[in-house]
Amino acid sequence: MQAQIGIHALGLAIPRRYVDMEALARARGVEPAKYTQGLGAREMAVAEPGEDTVALAALAARRALAASGIDRERLGLLIVGTETGVDHSKPVASFVHGLLGLPQAMRVYDTQHACYGGTAGVMAAVEWIASGAADGRVALVICADIARYGLRTPGEPTQGAGAVALVIANDPALLAIDVGVSGAASSHVHDFWRPLGRREAQVDGHYSVQCYLDAVSTAYRGWRRRAIDRGLIAATGGLASERLARLCYHVPFCRMARKAHVQVRRCDLEDAGAPWEAEVEDAAALVAHGVQVEPSLGLCARIGNIYTGSLYLGLAGLLDAQAGSLVGQRIGLFSYGSGCTSEFFSGVVAPDAAAQIAAANIAEILAARERITIPEYERIMVLPPTAPLVPWPSNASDAGDFRFVGVSNHQRQYAGR
Ligand code: HMG
Repeated sequence: MQAQIGIHALGLAIPRRYVDMEALARARGVEPAKYTQGLGAREMAVAEPGEDTVALAALAARRALAASGIDRERLGLLIVGTETGVDHSKPVASFVHGLLGLPQAMRVYDTQHACYGGTAGVMAAVEWIASGAADGRVALVICADIARYGLRTPGEPTQGAGAVALVIANDPALLAIDVGVSGAASSHVHDFWRPLGRREAQVDGHYSVQCYLDAVSTAYRGWRRRAIDRGLIAATGGLASERLARLCYHVPFCRMARKAHVQVRRCDLEDAGAPWEAEVEDAAALVAHGVQVEPSLGLCARIGNIYTGSLYLGLAGLLDAQAGSLVGQRIGLFSYGSGCTSEFFSGVVAPDAAAQIAAANIAEILAARERITIPEYERIMVLPPTAPLVPWPSNASDAGDFRFVGVSNHQRQYAGR
């Protein structure tokens, strides 16, 4: 039997501050239900300049390595997937490599394609191990981003920030990935982009939703064909997507996952020659969404879009909530990066998943945050990126954190312990 490869351990880092979405809606003169129900958001992470992509990535990586129990000397590959890097040449991965004091004898680089960049890293790591090139070594893949659209823009309630670090190894303790069983979809579209020199993304919001739905259709169909060919799911008997215990989607806002799931079910029905009767199917999709998708949205609703890490934030929330009851079951994962490229893949929850996800201390990390007012959020949002000296929230301890502290001789400086 082929050795299993996948996600062995996970570490999460999020900003120390957040805003409440009902308060943001009221400040914008919007009915709160639009944000809480229409978008599915409860809280949104707010990063100050000291909590940049490097600082978040390094903290998540430190936590993932501690949770993994793996000797750092076994690391052979470090990849950071990000679309909010800090330099046109020097990768975030290089900063993280230095801040964590990782071994010199390893490959270190960034991957970029909007929110897909993290999955590009995960696939490179999995296939590096599967090819035999890893020669017993393991990989660290970090998905880290700051999602900014700007104050009073339609994208404002879909911002967020954070990092998810994944240790990819043989015999994984969290999720064994079905290597080689995936479907991809790419098109040259301008749904979302961030021109050089800009902190805020440009976005054609409603078009971007349509681009995502087009991509998930093609990617899902590609995965489904290979999954059936390889005998991972049965070819007949109900909708193919219902043979997955859970589905985690890229979550720019929680309601998008529901739209995606309706689309996947629509692909199944239409490809089986069944008519799409919107009223009947919307009701059935709502029930399916409640069981198969909603359990992965708890963390996303409290943090917001973290771009590359968003899919893995969903996975972390799902495993934190349900790993014990999902052991041995297959889940589907869909990664979407605007521009666009995407991939649908799957994996099986490992026997040790509940104990391993407990080591990520997710509830503790969320509980350490401080809720801030909308004026305080607005003040932080307009700070220049080189003004990191915002004090930590009153209840915070700096222990173990990293922080951008300024630029000296054109070089970014970090403090960390
Ligand atoms: P908008 O135009 O302000 O909102 O922008 P809307 O009018 O479309 O309303 C949103 C939802 O709220 C709708 O639900 C309304 O009906 C509902 P829907 O019909 O779509 O199901 N609504 C209400 N519900 C309850 N009570 C009410 C109420 N009022 C309205 N009173 C938009 C929304 C998402 C377009 C905007 O926030 C945006 O542009 N966001 C950024 C772009 C984005 O997130 N796109 C997602 C797909 S692209 C992607 O995922 C990639 C990305 O992560 C980047 C990357 O790859 O790097 C973004």
